[in-house]
Amino acid sequence: MDKLLIQGNQSLSGSVKISGAKNSVLPMLCASVMSSKGSVELENVPHLHDVTTTTRLLTQMGVRVTMDEFMKISLDANDIHNLYAPYDLVKTMRSSILVLGPLLTRFGEAKVSLPGGCAIGMRPVDMHLEALEKMGAEIKVESGYIHAKSKRLKGANIIFATKSVTGTENIIMAATLADGTTKIENAANEPEIIDLCEFLKKMGAKISGHGTDTVEIEGVASLCGASHNPLPDRIEAGTFMVAAAITRGDIEINNIIPAHSQAVIDKLTEAGADITSMNNSVRVKMNKRPSAINIETNAYPHFPTDMQAQITALNTLAKGESFVKENIFENRFMHIQELQRMGAKITVKENIAHITGKDKLYGAPVMATDLRASASLILAGLAAEGITEIGRVYHIDRGYDCIEEKLQLIGARISRKPM
Ligand code: EPZ
Repeated sequence: MDKLLIQGNQSLSGSVKISGAKNSVLPMLCASVMSSKGSVELENVPHLHDVTTTTRLLTQMGVRVTMDEFMKISLDANDIHNLYAPYDLVKTMRSSILVLGPLLTRFGEAKVSLPGGCAIGMRPVDMHLEALEKMGAEIKVESGYIHAKSKRLKGANIIFATKSVTGTENIIMAATLADGTTKIENAANEPEIIDLCEFLKKMGAKISGHGTDTVEIEGVASLCGASHNPLPDRIEAGTFMVAAAITRGDIEINNIIPAHSQAVIDKLTEAGADITSMNNSVRVKMNKRPSAINIETNAYPHFPTDMQAQITALNTLAKGESFVKENIFENRFMHIQELQRMGAKITVKENIAHITGKDKLYGAPVMATDLRASASLILAGLAAEGITEIGRVYHIDRGYDCIEEKLQLIGARISRKPM
């Protein structure tokens, strides 16, 4: 298992290009199984472990996957021969659950491993399964697998008790080939869901209301191949914005949609950063110690849970006291004990972390526990005095494309050390 070594106390400056959004690409890859005619082509796919895992999952089903040197992926689902998502693949990447809706709606059957929990929480899929049952699916959960069957799914009225990103995505995809119209209320409205729906419409789906709390899908007889250029990754973008703030640097972050990062931009501005938004880039400058900022995570367009760990890292060095309230996942504070090893002053009570900003952190050996926790440890290491060594760096490779190369290009002293 590789480690990352960071020599801290270095301001970052320069420009960085943001890659395609992991949480847009993953559902689109799964949607490709619904095309019964022609290939799906996705451009500018980020080079991530989760993308590789998903293509392995699809290949073992019989999807023909090719990738060129520009990270353009082509997927041909005409010869799918098994409707099975095995535990050994699903356990490494929960979003494999996103093949359930597509397989069931096109083939009338699917056997998908229950994803199980992960470091940040139980991550149940009960709402996905209840919604599919409402659409007429027969669902049995046995020996860790979801066995789903349905002659043809029927359109239904689905009301989600809480907003679920992949829950919304799974049901939208299932509804595209169902008999009749499906209405989803309390749908999640992240930009990645809008992006997925625009892609599904290119495949022939009939969808309206995406991006609002109520989405309507009119089932069609079949879907065909299409090509699409996924959204840029707003969480990668936000992570580099915090990198500029925590190292008191000056970074231009290119190939982004600033409006998708508005909650993060507002909070960093409150922390004292000087942020200029252009059409598809932002420039973040910080020439003083950041002020502490309070955040509460919530569904889009509120402050994203996927940026909570990164802002927590910033607050450990800010002027003043702050609180960080995590409303989405029940265990998304795993980065805190690692930040404490670097000298951070944080106490946690239930889902609220209380942070007292220090004027210094100190490099230390720390352990990554999950994707965004790893990002927060890198950010803290960039600003800390001395050397930080981050273990289990495979977590970061799941969701950040060439992170050390991108950071090196803007002045970071970071390298990967094979174990
Ligand atoms: C998606 O996860 C993202 N993953 C996560 O990004 C992100 O943190 C999360 O949405 C919230 O924005 C992908 O898009 C691949 P949820 P998802 O269903 O869909 C509860 C990252 O770092 N819930 O929106 O799994 C759930 O426990 C990853 O890129 C149920 O109770 O999250 C949570 O408390 C991490 N039952 C809340 O809903 C269900 O059936 C929101 O979870 C489904 C969800």
